[in-house]
Amino acid sequence: MIPVITIDGPTASGKGTVASRVAAALGFGLLDSGALYRLTALSALEAEIALDDAPAIAALARVLPVKFEDERILVAGRPVQDAIRQEAIGNAASKIAALPAVREALVELQHGFRQAPGLVADGRDMGTVIFPDATLKVFLTASVHARAERRYKQLIEKGFPANMLALLQDLKERDARDTERAVAPLKPAEGAHLLETSELTIEQSVEQVLDWWRHWAGTQGK
Ligand code: DC
Repeated sequence: MIPVITIDGPTASGKGTVASRVAAALGFGLLDSGALYRLTALSALEAEIALDDAPAIAALARVLPVKFEDERILVAGRPVQDAIRQEAIGNAASKIAALPAVREALVELQHGFRQAPGLVADGRDMGTVIFPDATLKVFLTASVHARAERRYKQLIEKGFPANMLALLQDLKERDARDTERAVAPLKPAEGAHLLETSELTIEQSVEQVLDWWRHWAGTQGK
């Protein structure tokens, strides 16, 4: 069985950065599942499809012409890795992610990322729904203030406008939508290791996940 490490958590909890560093340290592939919801949202907005039109968005998601190339994400050959980081796209992603048909349409694409020698998958339901048999499950949290600060820096670095108060409000709304939705709500998987990162550096968070991984590998005699 190809090993999978799942890293789930709320928006701006730092899971994307932690996941990509853990993947690099182990030489594993990376699945940024949030990007798939963001890409679907971007495509729906560009096609002027209403964000509650589940069948139309699911149809779009099923044939998403997406390619992950190192740091770049290409949709039909167009790089969109920066465009999908905008707050408006994140909000739209959170809305379409509440539609069961859209989630279902993205399952196969996500399973396809499970390739040797292993995968690190980050999102909301990686450990609960998509890879329930994952080797190591991590649930990453951070206070809403710590997350708003991180998101603020991220947006400014990418040259997007950002407002701290608006971000706090946005994060709270997004948290509520992601945790209260009926399908695949954000919650720790059974057996997940909890990692509270408000007071941790990225390096410390990465080291903790790698420690858990080494511990598991040790129990396997590997
Ligand atoms: O992690 P992110 O901020 O890039 O995710 C964007 C939105 O996509 C988020 O608000 C909820 C949704 N999402 C999801 O429902 N399930 C996932 N596995 C990943 C993201």
